[in-house]
Amino acid sequence: MASERTLSIIKPDATRRNLTGAVNALLEDAGLRIIAQKRIRLSRERAEDFYQVHKERPFYNDLVTFMTSGPVVVQVLEGEDAVLLNRKVMGATDPALANAGTIRKIFGESIEANSVHGSDSPDNAKTEIAFFFSEGEITG
Ligand code: CMP
Repeated sequence: MASERTLSIIKPDATRRNLTGAVNALLEDAGLRIIAQKRIRLSRERAEDFYQVHKERPFYNDLVTFMTSGPVVVQVLEGEDAVLLNRKVMGATDPALANAGTIRKIFGESIEANSVHGSDSPDNAKTEIAFFFSEGEITG
């Protein structure tokens, strides 16, 4: 499998608890390389746009409110099979169902405040990376 890139977001529940470094350590320990990273505050418009695919879901409004409730850290991760590997390191969406040792199991508070987001496919990874980063901001 060739080297791949994926988008990761450290969510407001994690930045609020000063967990950016702890999350990054788990990502790096798993072999993922953080090749771009910035701490930003999402506007409501940007969060709505990012989560467009979930627009019809009952949790959409609460999700957007949560994602704008504090700073997030957006990152580009690179590595072999990075999309799948990151999803493995993150664990299941619901922290209660996540495997031991995963980021969401260790740090997640609820299905909404689940500490991290990761792209779910290589195609979505490309779109999501371009949503937050220009090529010039990424140093592979
Ligand atoms: P994320 O990977 O950021 O993608 C969409 C987010 O919606 C998801 O993680 C969860 O944090 C959040 N969410 C809230 N409620 C639900 C739900 N019932 N099912 C799936 N995702 C949910």
